[in-house]
Amino acid sequence: MGIHFGVDYYPEHWQRDRWETDAELMKEMGLTVVRMAEFSWHKLEPQEGKYDFAWLDDAIDLLGRYGIRTIVGTPTAAPPAWMANRYPEILPVDREGRIRGFGGRHHDCQSNAVYRGFVRKIVTAMAVHYKDNPNVIGWQPDNELGNSHHDLCMCESCRKNFQGWLEKKYGTVDRLNEAWGNAFWSQEYNEFSEVFTPRITVTGENPSAMLDWKCFCSDLIVDFMKEQTDIIRKHCPNHFITHNYMGFADKVDYYDLGKELDFVSHDQYPGGFFADESHGRGDILASTLDVVRSYKNKNFWIMEQQSGITGWEVMGRAPAPGQLSLWSLQSVAHGADAVVYFRWRVCAMGTEQYWHGILPHSGNPGRRYYELKEMIRKAAPLMEKMEGSMPAPEVGIVYSFRQNYALQIQPQNPNMSYTEQIQEYYRAFYDRQIPVDFVPDDGDFGKYKLLVAPLQYLMNSELEERYFRYVKNGGHLVLTMRTGVKDETNICMTDRELPGRLSELTGSEVLDYDCLRDARVSAVFQNESHTARNWCDIITVKEGAEVLAVYASEFYAGEPCVTKNEYGQGCCYYIGTEPDEAFMAALVRYMTDAAGIAALGNADEGVELAAREKADRRWIFALNHTDMEKTYSVDSSYRLVYGEEAGKLNGYEVQILERKI
Ligand code: GAL
Repeated sequence: MGIHFGVDYYPEHWQRDRWETDAELMKEMGLTVVRMAEFSWHKLEPQEGKYDFAWLDDAIDLLGRYGIRTIVGTPTAAPPAWMANRYPEILPVDREGRIRGFGGRHHDCQSNAVYRGFVRKIVTAMAVHYKDNPNVIGWQPDNELGNSHHDLCMCESCRKNFQGWLEKKYGTVDRLNEAWGNAFWSQEYNEFSEVFTPRITVTGENPSAMLDWKCFCSDLIVDFMKEQTDIIRKHCPNHFITHNYMGFADKVDYYDLGKELDFVSHDQYPGGFFADESHGRGDILASTLDVVRSYKNKNFWIMEQQSGITGWEVMGRAPAPGQLSLWSLQSVAHGADAVVYFRWRVCAMGTEQYWHGILPHSGNPGRRYYELKEMIRKAAPLMEKMEGSMPAPEVGIVYSFRQNYALQIQPQNPNMSYTEQIQEYYRAFYDRQIPVDFVPDDGDFGKYKLLVAPLQYLMNSELEERYFRYVKNGGHLVLTMRTGVKDETNICMTDRELPGRLSELTGSEVLDYDCLRDARVSAVFQNESHTARNWCDIITVKEGAEVLAVYASEFYAGEPCVTKNEYGQGCCYYIGTEPDEAFMAALVRYMTDAAGIAALGNADEGVELAAREKADRRWIFALNHTDMEKTYSVDSSYRLVYGEEAGKLNGYEVQILERKI
């Protein structure tokens, strides 16, 4: 497509006589695309049914004259006040039954028929209006679907929709009662119309009902967006459609949402939201980018890349010189074909007055503008060559929204988190410079030499079968604690010892376990002492299976903690605990060596190596996430195509190397 850098632009926040200066500065900087209008519903429909697209037309035309194309956002994340006043039923209701008011954004109920009617009308009007505009190339329906909607919406319309969704899934109310285990605490329903949304209860919750509720909410969002994408596709068959994801955010199943899109986009704020622990942590950032690529197993765009201090009421740290370029190129390293910055100029008004853009409040180009301009000048030609190239990992980590939902509902140990555990496994590979893909549980396992499937808590025979087949055909599989505990409806399995039928694959059974609250247990692996956290499966091995690590404290000292079983052409590891960082690193070293997986190279701590390849070419990115000088080495056949002195990185420096393959 030839577009690699752009910016999110809000011309409606500024005087018109500034627009041309903005366009000139953007062009000078090398930006060739903007996203606009995703929150401008009132400006586009100031009164019910009266559309005004003239201001947006003018902005699109003006930018077009500077060679800058537009992605149009549909403004459905910010319904206007006239609508909320005249049709208050469009406002969402939270768990406590409170109506959330107008004044922020996303104050909408996505199942409400009146709201959906307004959405259909404005999206149709916009699609018809822009279908032949030569400067419009694509669409972003809504904005960060799932954001702000976390405990929303539980209104009567959502309740009816939930009932309909359940009826479609279960057919009869008896089947629903059985699937949810409603005999417990007298929760049986006589008809679907009796089913409640999970508003706040006096005590506890039904885990099966909660799992269906979360899946319903996800499906509702997919349906909400699909209504828009269907309209846009009908009128604008030559435009692409994408949506800005939020990494590991989980309100909507991003694999499902991605089926409606040409490609996925993502909003990357490496500085963290204000001051959280992930600030600039290379491994967390890398895992986020890898999961985004994996949602469609395809190149993606960054639709919002941090371009300054983040901040609403309070602010985060200022990105140091070099950091914005580093973060931009890290996105590219993991498969982004275009990077769009959020935002052009920090806003003078509203909630986001301190969420900084490329330009400061004054509008005068400063440090951030010149740094990014220089990086774009050097990187854009390379990105043109790299377009469509992809990382090619030999390791897959299974990542599933349903497993995440079930473990959020019952973490068992309050310190246990599905996504954190996924990221801990990820980190051990990252630290060894070994690239990773994430894979859905119906994905192509066969591509990977090593497949890590943490916490396969919900199990069904189809997934079991897929794991058996993978190992039989030579794959190395890693299963962990809390596998095969529940069936699809979130009810405990009772017919076999854990991990159910998969025990034939693991060569072991879990007859007992310990939930570690405020306790750590020691374990021994390869004569080294390590720490087991949060959970200990007490494993009994069957004949033929190998014990790799044993516990060294508690009443189960001496019992197996990690096992390995040869099966078919491959093998299956079982890790019965949550290993701490050093233990995880040792296990990953052992498993990658056994699977014959090579690292991209060697690098000092704080330096990340990542690769993209296509046809006959491969690029390695060396990214220094620290402010100190660092070194790295890769195969000598690579030639430096971006950077100064191969192998030696200044603080926050990025180098890119290329070779034929
Ligand atoms: C994103 C959102 C943007 C803007 C930004 C800064 O999550 O998509 O619209 O709000 O955060 O807060």
